[in-house]
Amino acid sequence: MPITNIESLIRENIRNLTPYRSARDDYNEGTLLDANENSLGSSVRNSLDLHRYPTPTQDKLRKKIAEYRGVDFENIFLGVGSDEAIDLLMRIFCEPGEESIIITPPTYGMYKVSANINNVGIKEVKLTEKFQLQPDRIIDEVDDSTKMLFLCSPNNPTGNDMKRTDLLKLATKFPGIVVVDEAYIDFSKQESMAHMVQQYPNLVVLQTFSKAFGLAGIRLGVAIAGPQIIDYMMRVKAPYNINKLTADTALQAFDNKELLNFNIEKLREERDYVAEQLNYSDAVEKVYPSNSNFLLFKIDRAKAVYEKLAKKGIIVRYRGNEPLCEDCLRVTIGMPDENVRFLKALKNIVEHELS
Ligand SMILES: Cc1ncc(COP(=O)(O)O)c(C=O)c1O
Repeated sequence: MPITNIESLIRENIRNLTPYRSARDDYNEGTLLDANENSLGSSVRNSLDLHRYPTPTQDKLRKKIAEYRGVDFENIFLGVGSDEAIDLLMRIFCEPGEESIIITPPTYGMYKVSANINNVGIKEVKLTEKFQLQPDRIIDEVDDSTKMLFLCSPNNPTGNDMKRTDLLKLATKFPGIVVVDEAYIDFSKQESMAHMVQQYPNLVVLQTFSKAFGLAGIRLGVAIAGPQIIDYMMRVKAPYNINKLTADTALQAFDNKELLNFNIEKLREERDYVAEQLNYSDAVEKVYPSNSNFLLFKIDRAKAVYEKLAKKGIIVRYRGNEPLCEDCLRVTIGMPDENVRFLKALKNIVEHELS
């Protein structure tokens, strides 16, 4: 049985918080003289009504996303990127200086950074050599201070899906909040866990508009969870966190799902092509299987290769400092011509410059 008493996990000051309220929570039409906006209008000439604050709850966009992901409107929280959701969750559940989270390196770096910013302790239970979770070891690490577990599937920087059975086992057995970061889920063949938040009140699924939707510039992240968790996230967030330009653009994205799906398919094809080409290179020791829009690969003298690529204007990520990623580089799948440029430059470096 998953933990169901979410209320008992919330920090006391957050449970007792009186959230900020604006008049717009009650009225948003009429002669609006409540919010000290500039009634003369914006200093930029367009028809977007940018002199007005955006809606605090973004109901229309939340409904659209809920429909797309097959969950209810009450299951959706919107943040300034999923990075905002990560930070808010930490502030809602973890008492600074006292409580802790578990992370599973190698994984996305912001869980650690956010914990450090909030003075929250961090325990690490590494992935296996095959980059899979160790559920029993994770549960063994739990003590009275452990509040949250951050999992990532498909995982960054390794690119692979976590086994669904392990994710569910942890959602059932972990006595706190289980966050499953699905930033790259749309590139995976594995189904999202979003709909499972109905059965697991302690589960939070994170998604983002920055990857498959190609909208990193608008900074829009989504947390999907049971209504209790979402309600606390809504209370703690800044009143108008999602701006109008972001919300309008995100809504437009749903008008062109053909393009969204086309780009996902294209990136998958390109990823498989780049993986195949990397595999031809003698210098490449391993290309790890990926269900995302990037590839992790192990290569001789990775640091030197990384620097030489950068000198040629091709920027990839050196991941050799991460556990289990010795001599690894991570390359994001680019436009077809960018991928060819990357592969050619790499070939040149390993065959002529470093041989
Ligand atoms: C696993 C993972 N989660 C979250 C994010 C951040 O997403 P956002 O742009 O929504 O803050 C990233 C960005 O690279 C990521 O790799």
